[in-house]
Formats: sequence, C-alpha cells, structure tokens
Amino acid sequence: MRLAGKKALVTGAARGIGLGCARLMAEHGCDVVITDIDISEAGRAAGEVSNHPAIELDVTSGPAWKAAIERAGDLMDGINVLVNNAGIIIPGSVEDLDEAGWDRTMNVDLKSVYLGCHTALPVLSRNAPASIINMASISSMIASANFAAYNAAKAGVHMLTKSVALHAARTYADVRCNSVHPAFVDTDMVDQVTNSDDRQLNTGKLARQIPLGRIATVEDVAWAVVYLASNESSFMTGSELKLDGGVSAM
Ligand code: NAI
Repeated sequence: MRLAGKKALVTGAARGIGLGCARLMAEHGCDVVITDIDISEAGRAAGEVSNHPAIELDVTSGPAWKAAIERAGDLMDGINVLVNNAGIIIPGSVEDLDEAGWDRTMNVDLKSVYLGCHTALPVLSRNAPASIINMASISSMIASANFAAYNAAKAGVHMLTKSVALHAARTYADVRCNSVHPAFVDTDMVDQVTNSDDRQLNTGKLARQIPLGRIATVEDVAWAVVYLASNESSFMTGSELKLDGGVSAM
C-alpha cells in the first residue's frame, strides 16, 4: 500500500501505459480516476481498476481539463497525483510530416502537459504532498530522423517539467513534478513506428536495438510512476527517470 491516501487522475488511461499505471497504482492503495478521449474504452478500464466512473478528457482542450479536474476532485475529494500520460506519435521526417501532423503532435503531446499542470496545480497544492508525473520518452534525448515532431514535443515535455517543478517548489509546499522517459514499450503505439501489423515481429525487431534485449512492459513503466507518486520520492523534483533498457548508455 505504497500509495495509501493518494488520489490520482491519469490521462490516456483507457489502454497501454496509462492503464498499466492506473492498475498498479490502484493495487498499491491509490484512489484513481481514469480519463481518456476514448470514453467507451475508458469506461471498460475504469470498471477494471477504479472505484469511480471514467471521465472523458481530450487533453488538448482547456475547458475539458477544467471540467475533468473539477469532476475528479469531487469524486475523490481532492487530487494529489496527476499523471500526464496521453500521447500520440505521427512518424515522419521534417520533410515528410505535414503541418497538420506537426500541430497535432504538439497539441496532444506537449500543450496537453501545459494545460494539465496549469489547471491542476491549484487543486494539487490544496491536497499536498502532491506529485505531477509527465510521460516523456527517451525520444526527448535521442533523436530519430523519422520522429521530427515527436522528438521536439517530448523534448518540450522534458524541459517544461523542470520549469513546473521550480515554479511549484517556490510557490507551494510539497508539490513535485518529474518526467519519465521510456524507450519502446509493448503497446499499440509500437505498431505505429514499425511497418507491419505483426506485434511479435515488431517487438522482436525493436528489441534488437535495446541493450537489455527486450522492449519494456507497461509494468516496467508503472513501477516508476508508483515510485514518483509516492512519498518515497519526496526529495525528487525537476528530475527525469530513464527507463530505456540501456539505450542511452551507448
Ligand atoms: P497508446 O496508443 O497505447 O495509448 C494512448 C492513449 O492515449 C489511448 O488510450 C488514447 O485514446 C489516448 N489519447 C490519445 N489522444 C488523446 C487525447 N487527445 N486526449 C486524451 N487521450 C488521448 O500509447 P502508449 O504507448 O500507452 O503511450 C502512452 C504515453 O507513453 C504517450 O505519451 C507516449 O508518447 C509515451 N511513450 C510510449 C512509448 C511506447 O513505446 N509505447 C515509449 C515512450 C513513451
């Protein structure tokens, strides 16, 4: 019960990493509200891991954020953990990617984190100790010719995290903000960065790029989120946690 007394809102939690985080957090005593743009999948996920109904939240919308924070606060009697997890990847080099793809990536992957922190900080501060966890990527530090927008957006998340951490440290008592940086994780997103629909083939190919010889599971990421959400990480803010199987050590 490492998260007893914690009340978390997780974005993009209908499936993949977000759902894995919500599940493990709940197993450790956390009260969790599942949010996602896909409300029917989110409803199914909430039925599995939460005591509360799911909330529809498109993370690119300021008004939707305001409503979701208010509703989640009512459901859990406060919020003290925010996991900014929702994200997309639209592969493409700087020449291939069109303007719409660039804008969409920036909105879903980066503006969302600004909106989440901007909207939630007053509520989090009233329920401190509080923790914001931003799902960045190892792509914030290691570039790929084909990830122009994703690299830029995740690098933005990396640095925005530090700015939020410094602001929160000087403005509030005990509100922290950190980022998590996984390499490839076994979710639907993997199929978007490979050329085939064969998940096993795709994960095998990607695993060959990782020193540990495999890609991450959602649980590998969720354990880091449990740690950052808990008081075990109480002196950690403005930091980045790399979960990359050794890629960035090369
Ligand atoms: P996924 O594609 O399996 O799940 C993403 C979830 O976000 C879905 O439930 C989707 O409905 C939701 N979503 C998409 N757009 C949204 C929006 N506008 N508003 C609210 N929800 C929205 O992806 P995965 O792998 O679980 O990714 C989660 C996060 O982890 C993302 O930020 C991603 O960039 C990051 N990440 C993923 C890695 C991977 O290899 N899978 C590696 C490193 C980071």
